[in-house]
Amino acid sequence: MTTFEKLKKCYESVKSKIDFKPEIALVLGSGLGDYADTAVDVYATLDYSQIEGFPQSTVEGHKGRFVFGYVHGVPVVIMQGRVHYYEGYPMTDVVLPARLMSMMGAKVLFLTNASGGINANFTAGDFMLITDHISNFVPNPLIGSNVDELGTRFPDMSEIYNKKLRDVIKNSANELGIKLQEGVYLQLTGPSFESPAEIRMLRTFGADAVGMSTAVEAIAANHAGMKVCGISCIANLACGMTDNPLTHAEVQEMADKAAPKFKALITECLENISDCINTGNI
Ligand code: HPA
Repeated sequence: MTTFEKLKKCYESVKSKIDFKPEIALVLGSGLGDYADTAVDVYATLDYSQIEGFPQSTVEGHKGRFVFGYVHGVPVVIMQGRVHYYEGYPMTDVVLPARLMSMMGAKVLFLTNASGGINANFTAGDFMLITDHISNFVPNPLIGSNVDELGTRFPDMSEIYNKKLRDVIKNSANELGIKLQEGVYLQLTGPSFESPAEIRMLRTFGADAVGMSTAVEAIAANHAGMKVCGISCIANLACGMTDNPLTHAEVQEMADKAAPKFKALITECLENISDCINTGNI
């Protein structure tokens, strides 16, 4: 089956169960799994396991379902749990959900994640607006026959994270009095955390935060013509920046701790992005 055939199959499977056309797609990172349960007027939910051919997330702390609902009247589709490359999926499967949400009708993709802070000015619990990314350490999700139905063979990546959406996010953080760092997100495959030497290398490459998701999703979404934005929760300082060894539990704990503020920020952003959509400003 081709990438597009698989995508279409998933789309038909969703369509046969739920009739919903989202405007905005939101991917929830670590700590945010229950966001949709509290902040969204839920219309329906759909477990990934109910979608034929859809990759299933295996990571602890990541649920696996779509939530369809409304935030201030605007239809949104929310992913509670994403799949990661380190789980063993081919990269085309890793980006299938982003493409699927584009196919459902979403014009905006809002990506969130937990990451390790590399920038020395960051502290654990900070939020970082993703201004750009470095994806060269993971396979490009567009490798293989181009899916012409989605986009062009050699897509431009000069503004992966949409400037207008970035401004909306900055204004939203300002309105709430939430400090928002800015920087470049770098994706690695994981699942091992980095070594101190690797973090030093990544810093010289211009990375402000490091994680195991997001960049490839942003590439696939850009390819498909979506407007993309993203916020990273700096769950820990990267390896070598403190004396503590890193554990998934610790990262999860910090992400959970930052979650209430993160949720408030996301809600404010979604409302403001919705206003922009309604007024034709995006
Ligand atoms: N490294 C990579 N991925 C991460 C980290 C980290 O330190 N923290 C959260 N996700």
